[in-house]
Amino acid sequence: MNENKKLFLLEEDITYLNHGSFGACPKVIFEDYQNWQIRLEKQPVQFLTEELYSALKKSRESLSLFLGCDQDEVLFFQNPTTAISNIIYNLDLNPGDEVLMTDHEYGALVRAWNEWGKKVKVHIKYANVTLPLKSKDKFFEDISSKISSKTKVLFLSHITSPTGLVFPIKDIIDFAKERKIITIVDGAHVPGHIDLHLHSLDCDFYTGAIHKWMCGPKGVSFLFVKKEHQKWIKPIIYSWGKDGDDPERSEFLQDFQWQGTRDMSAFLTIPEVINFFKINIESFQGHSKKLILNSREQFQRVLGTHPISKGDDFLGQMISFPLPKSIDGNLKDLLWENHNIEIPIFEWNKEKFIRLSIHIYNDQKDIDSLMNALRSII
Ligand SMILES: Cc1ncc(COP(=O)(O)O)c(C=O)c1O
Repeated sequence: MNENKKLFLLEEDITYLNHGSFGACPKVIFEDYQNWQIRLEKQPVQFLTEELYSALKKSRESLSLFLGCDQDEVLFFQNPTTAISNIIYNLDLNPGDEVLMTDHEYGALVRAWNEWGKKVKVHIKYANVTLPLKSKDKFFEDISSKISSKTKVLFLSHITSPTGLVFPIKDIIDFAKERKIITIVDGAHVPGHIDLHLHSLDCDFYTGAIHKWMCGPKGVSFLFVKKEHQKWIKPIIYSWGKDGDDPERSEFLQDFQWQGTRDMSAFLTIPEVINFFKINIESFQGHSKKLILNSREQFQRVLGTHPISKGDDFLGQMISFPLPKSIDGNLKDLLWENHNIEIPIFEWNKEKFIRLSIHIYNDQKDIDSLMNALRSII
């Protein structure tokens, strides 16, 4: 077995090629998570009214250092959906205003935007990103050409879910900001996957999952809120806030941190998660990307379809490849049941895609097993 796989709780005899969906948690991080839960239960009152807040602060400090922002600009959420929903329900737009996003956004969030849009009569518009993605100028043109005086919000994935593409978002964010358009970035797949410096990116809001590529336990994500917006972004759930036990000076943090009794242990693992990243993941990222770039050629040979990106710039540690139209609808089940391979198949824009993820516990052998299995099925 791959040596790195021994660091994880993953079952030994499966070929796990779907890190992108829910990550996978290493043993040391999971132990740290359970230790926090045990500490809580040993003295619940002391923990939840005192110890918790200094531990949350440590997590915020290490995460903000890692993300290139200030410690009082990050809030913890269980997942990106709750983080983005919290922004959506604070927006004060007028009927007829528009929210612009690409046609590659995560389906659950597209649904969240549309449900809200129907209620407040705000139009949700889509910019088609031309495929294959091969230049950042074309990407910029595809989106900027859809911006009008009605556009009030730009919502963009930094790494897309169904198509596994790294979007070159900096120029379009700057363009939107010059026009006073609120910029919200869905970076669910970004932390631990590609470099991120939030102050340099300079968007208004950014969410990322820590339980995906950073390998945190499930239920730890963040929302970055630029300081100038902290006055009007309020929690969907109000609890004690400044009248509670949280010693923070910022009412913004107090309002968000305590949302009724809950287990925040996953948030408290962040220093351990970052430590694991630095020791075990960071130096491996280039290698994982190389495996992904090589797999693009293998996919093309085995599937006979064409890649949706060109060059090295738009791929990280995931790749989505179009399946031939003739392929069986149950490919995912066949790969799992007959070959012990866990890999997702997505339908996007009426086409089916297979999405490969590579993390430190994967190697070329895993990719070869996938290609051999695909050959035997097609
Ligand atoms: C691009 C993107 N955004 C948002 C999410 C939302 O994640 P969750 O369902 O955990 O909130 C995901 C999940 O995979 C994603 O891939």
